[in-house]
Amino acid sequence: MLGAGYWGPNLVRNFAASPDCEVRWLCDLDEERAKRVVGRHSTIRTTASLETVLNDPSVDVVAIATPAATHARLGLACLDAGRHVLIEKPLAPSADEARSLVAAAERHGLVLMCDHTYCYTPTVRRIRDLVHSGQLGDIHYVDSVRINLGLVQSDIDVVWDLAPHDLSILDFILPQDSRPTAVAAHGADPIGAGHACLAYLTLPLSGNGIAHVHVNWLSPTKLRTTVIGGSKQMVVWDDLNPSQRLSMYDTGVDISDEFGSEARREAMVSYRIGDMVAPALPEYEALGAMARELVSAIREHRPPLTDGRAGLRVVEILEAASTSLLGDGRLVPI
Ligand SMILES: NC(=O)c1ccc[n+]([C@@H]2O[C@H](COP(=O)([O-])OP(=O)(O)OC[C@H]3O[C@@H](n4cnc5c(N)ncnc54)[C@H](O)[C@@H]3O)[C@@H](O)[C@H]2O)c1
Repeated sequence: MLGAGYWGPNLVRNFAASPDCEVRWLCDLDEERAKRVVGRHSTIRTTASLETVLNDPSVDVVAIATPAATHARLGLACLDAGRHVLIEKPLAPSADEARSLVAAAERHGLVLMCDHTYCYTPTVRRIRDLVHSGQLGDIHYVDSVRINLGLVQSDIDVVWDLAPHDLSILDFILPQDSRPTAVAAHGADPIGAGHACLAYLTLPLSGNGIAHVHVNWLSPTKLRTTVIGGSKQMVVWDDLNPSQRLSMYDTGVDISDEFGSEARREAMVSYRIGDMVAPALPEYEALGAMARELVSAIREHRPPLTDGRAGLRVVEILEAASTSLLGDGRLVPI
């Protein structure tokens, strides 16, 4: 395990709790930090040297929770040393580096997984099932809001910090005939942080749909809401409402073809307002499910649900969004 900062300890806790895993090393350039995380009575050894970890033949998998800029270099070193690799989102700081990770994993026949944590939550699993089973119908739009008084990062902007969550969720839930084809990004840096602190991404989807992602570090309140409009049903996911995270609306808006296109605008819009159902969802920690998926993928010699290619697709959109931000919001194909 590499990285004992803010997120790394969550991975350590979940892998240590898994009956299928044994955490051997916690490696951080700041070894004192790693020591504080494992505590005085742990069997997990600490080091500041990746080489020490890779010299241990009992290490099968390396999980990387270091800053994004280091992901490709560290991931490649581990893959080239014959280890399966889990990398935190975003997979790499550029699409080229993400591609080199995917290529190295395929060359060595190793599992490369990206921790797109939300894809392992019960809510996102259910939404994916609803979309893929056709229960929502055609996807008309996805509207995702992720705003709070966030930690203003020094090395990455708000798009690279927060939007990987929304983009990985889109990648996970949307069917093949409704994928992002381009992105237009508008952002602002009203506090002079040196990069965007709030941003709006608009992503046309193949088919007739559209997705919108709003990320913001400067909001006084925290909102984590996604609305998905389908031709048959619509869902609202409010991640901050644990007693009713998911609401499914039997609601639809239809336009009758009966009188041809001219007459449509007049009075042929019909609204269907049916029941709202809040499904019971199991409660479990997403990172635990993520850890189980990593172990299963390795044992079954198959790509995990959020494999390197999923990580690459997300990085490709992030990179296109950065190009769009620099180009005043022009639409950049993906
Ligand atoms: N999945 C999620 O929900 C989620 C949430 C938060 C952060 N993250 C991701 O986790 C990663 C780490 O974020 P963080 O907030 O914990 O960062 P952090 O800055 O708090 O911690 C990073 C740690 O990595 C160490 N480090 C840096 N280079 C290293 C190297 N070469 N070898 C060993 N250790 C090294 C640093 O000393 C530091 O302790 C990022 O990619 C971030 O996007 C994911």
